[in-house]
Amino acid sequence: MSTLAAQAISTSRLDLLPLHLEHAEEMAAVLSDPALHAFTGGTPDTPQALRSRYRRVIAGSPDPAVSWLNWVIRLRDEPCLTGTVQSTVSPSGHDSIAEIAWVVGTPWQGRGIATEAARGLVTWLGQQPVHTVIAHVHPEHQASAAVATAAGLTPTDEWHEGEIRWHRSIRS
Ligand SMILES: CC(C)(COP(=O)(O)OP(=O)(O)OC[C@H]1O[C@@H](n2cnc3c(N)ncnc32)[C@H](O)[C@@H]1OP(=O)(O)O)[C@@H](O)C(=O)NCCC(=O)NCCS
Repeated sequence: MSTLAAQAISTSRLDLLPLHLEHAEEMAAVLSDPALHAFTGGTPDTPQALRSRYRRVIAGSPDPAVSWLNWVIRLRDEPCLTGTVQSTVSPSGHDSIAEIAWVVGTPWQGRGIATEAARGLVTWLGQQPVHTVIAHVHPEHQASAAVATAAGLTPTDEWHEGEIRWHRSIRS
């Protein structure tokens, strides 16, 4: 199949906007709390480092069969950026498998934003030639497990780099 491109996705409170270089400065502030990296590792990026990272991500995967899809999460009414969702879509049989992940900045957590964004993303993926959605969640990360559950994924007994693989079959 051909490479997918991220498209704008709207949910009741959120606009998921395809990642753009100009989002780097605001996102560096949104993602500035080191606690965001407790389960996933790493440290917050400076605006310059985030801009470089976004430049590489937007350029796309070196493997032309793999799509790197990235969105920022905008809370429509405020309006401000609050986090990101992403998906890596890879060939699998006649269609594709999509790995998804989410981050919400500390000041905006606990308002159902990750849940609403993940559901919106999975709905969008269901309209693409994708048959399976997966996520990798740290076994002690209850908030992320709750987001995966709300997006219709269930845990498997497979592990990947210290995280549990979650899975949902979808049909386009
Ligand atoms: C995981 C994360 C995205 C959740 O964002 P959020 O917008 O606060 O999530 P929501 O408000 O949609 O809440 C999701 C669920 O987590 C629960 N939750 C929120 N914070 C929690 C906490 N500290 N401990 C346990 N559960 C928590 C909520 O009650 C909700 O559960 P419910 O639907 O059963 O009520 C956010 O904590 C985060 O960005 N963490 C750091 C990055 C990360 O680890 N990402 C995961 C990579 S896959």
